[in-house]
Amino acid sequence: MIGPYRLGRTLGEGEFGKVKLGTHRDTGAEVAIKLRHTKLMREIAILRQLNHPHIVKLYDVIETPSTIGMVMSCASGGELFEYILVHRYLKERTALRFFAQLISAVQYLHSHAIVHRDLKLENLLLDQDRNIVITDFGFANMSNTQEDHLLQTSCGSPCYAAPELVMSDGYVGEAADIWSCGVILYAMLCGYLPYDDDPENPNGDNINRLYTYIMETELVFPEGISAKACDLMQRMLVPDPKQRATMAEIIAHPWLHVAVAVAVAVAIAITTARQGPDGAHGVPADAG
Ligand SMILES: Nc1ncnc2c1ncn2[C@@H]1O[C@H](COP(=O)(O)OP(=O)(O)O)[C@@H](O)[C@H]1O
Ligand SMILES: [Mg+2]
Repeated sequence: MIGPYRLGRTLGEGEFGKVKLGTHRDTGAEVAIKLRHTKLMREIAILRQLNHPHIVKLYDVIETPSTIGMVMSCASGGELFEYILVHRYLKERTALRFFAQLISAVQYLHSHAIVHRDLKLENLLLDQDRNIVITDFGFANMSNTQEDHLLQTSCGSPCYAAPELVMSDGYVGEAADIWSCGVILYAMLCGYLPYDDDPENPNGDNINRLYTYIMETELVFPEGISAKACDLMQRMLVPDPKQRATMAEIIAHPWLHVAVAVAVAVAIAITTARQGPDGAHGVPADAG
């Protein structure tokens, strides 16, 4: 037990510990509980500000003498990573729907001056209706707290990380998130990651070598992917962050613009519906 929740099976395991299913003792409501030994102050502070259907909801934080539990909405459909593994790669229509939801959420984050900095397939979950849920704000940061929006800390997984994270002494968080989204779109449509096929450095463990490889290797696509989709990936996976597509350009892109407009409208409708008359978030009474 932690607080009123009975702990059940492990929903997933990240680099820093486990996330378990929690069932409320009285109501039976199911939540995901991220268990840690230290309090994740920044992650908690950031999640508390957010209210978006494609971003995990933080309901409560429970502290015991040995553990901290972050009580969150449970995304029962598992990781997008697993979903792609099962299907090998996604049809363009399926990928478009997921990607539009992802972009609607990332646009929401950036408009609140928050950058995620660890966007990857393992941190994108699916809910029971197979909608995207972004989780794991462990590396997230406020992009406007640093001088000139330039962040210094290198974050995330090498295979999803923008080249400027290693190559230069400061980077713009928003542009780095856009690179990661480009890697995610590539992985959805192709079924494998771009830039992880250097025979000398298969998993990108040698980060400096990975970045040299990215700078020197032309992006190639398997057959069967539409010209518009390839064009969008090519605009997002530009090594120079100043030349890379901006959020405004992505949203207006011919491959995406209709789907993203739908995703944004649906997200606004859901967010409005789940806000109470006092503007409070839709936190279950038993969890908040
Ligand atoms: N809200 C959630 N619902 C269901 N599963 C989750 C949820 N949050 C995390 N998980 C699972 O737990 C894993 C680890 O959680 P994450 O927050 O990414 O931790 P870490 O910071 O250790 O990477 C995720 O990759 C996912 O499989
Ligand atoms: Mg994670």
